[in-house]
Amino acid sequence: MYHLECIECHKKYPETKVIYTCTCGGLLDVVYDYSRIHLTKNDLTGPLSVWKYRALLPISREPVSLDEGGTPLYRVDRIAKSVGLKDVYVKHEGMNPTGSFKDRGMTVGVTKALELGMKTVACASTGNTSASLAVYGARAGVPAVVLLPSGKVALGKLAQALMHGAKVLSIRGNFDDALKLVRDLCDREGFYLLNSVNPYRLEGQKTIAFEIADQLGWQAPDRLVLPVGNAGNITAIYKGFKELKNLGLIDSVPMMTGIQAEGASPIVAAIKNNAAAITPDSHPETVATAIRIGNPVNSIKALIAIRESGGTAETVTDDEIIRAQQELAYLEGIGVEPASASSIAGLRKLVELGVIGTDEKVVCVTTGHLLKDSEHVLSVCPKPIEIDATIEAVRAAVFSK
Ligand code: F0G
Repeated sequence: MYHLECIECHKKYPETKVIYTCTCGGLLDVVYDYSRIHLTKNDLTGPLSVWKYRALLPISREPVSLDEGGTPLYRVDRIAKSVGLKDVYVKHEGMNPTGSFKDRGMTVGVTKALELGMKTVACASTGNTSASLAVYGARAGVPAVVLLPSGKVALGKLAQALMHGAKVLSIRGNFDDALKLVRDLCDREGFYLLNSVNPYRLEGQKTIAFEIADQLGWQAPDRLVLPVGNAGNITAIYKGFKELKNLGLIDSVPMMTGIQAEGASPIVAAIKNNAAAITPDSHPETVATAIRIGNPVNSIKALIAIRESGGTAETVTDDEIIRAQQELAYLEGIGVEPASASSIAGLRKLVELGVIGTDEKVVCVTTGHLLKDSEHVLSVCPKPIEIDATIEAVRAAVFSK
């Protein structure tokens, strides 16, 4: 029903082969025989979840699952008004079991590890991937090894990786260094690599597209806006929408619009310079530590997704990210981590620049939950007001300016 295929030289590999990139160095895709997949809207009734779309997932065994997916798609009229649009939605991926979209990839990726008979799973991470891998490794009963950039991982994410029993290694280097090391480690030790260079992980993440179309009544929005780090999610979601279009379930694919922090923006630079490939940034820096990445492994796929779909890419500053995070929190009651808020910051900027038209229906993906990074929250919000335990002190404080 499916095989792995290089996006550069189109060499094919059987689905049973443990391989992450082609011998030519190209990225791999999972390619299905779509002529054998007959899926209609009537087959897709019932509650949302990753495994609702099993006909389009490359797994035959019982999944390792914690009921991932089924995240809310909120209409956000106050944000829409604030940025000058009419029709804006937020797909809040922070509502997954571990608080980020990574769970969609891990339920598929860790299940694939079991199918392939792998004994240990591993990843490099800016935090969320490691939290999710630790949790799904625990659920599967498979040991997990995670490599993190020292001092640059939000505490909530680190706490998850530690509590769920992963072997946590803190690398004196950045995410890009950690990814290089874990790829080497997996090659040497036969560990199963679950970064987004693994095409099976992206298969899980493409269900974000399936759910959005499903929630909008089998329609694609005009535009999808999301944060970009290692660039797996933008390519996964694009693939998801393309598959729905191939199967005749939707008529169009949204303009894929990637947002990066100004201090870590190689994909935006490549799009703006019309370059065939990115120039890696050796010193990425941003308050949005989840997307503090200078050499995105899926950049070639992301450039294709953005260009083919007629989308774009834009940078936002750390201050714009923090403002968007606060706006989403107090205007809409949606709590997201800084990287996720970059999608809203990017939305505002692209409307101001006239790139996003005022009649567009836009979905912003918020990738991780506010509680992932509470240290950051405490550093940008006013401190609690400490007072004596008397009603006079309470009343004075409540009405103080
Ligand atoms: N948002 C959040 C909250 C993330 O954790 C990540 C990536 C992204 C956006 C970007 O997604 O890499 O697919 O472009 N976090 C990875 C990690 C790198 O290790 O947790 P991407």
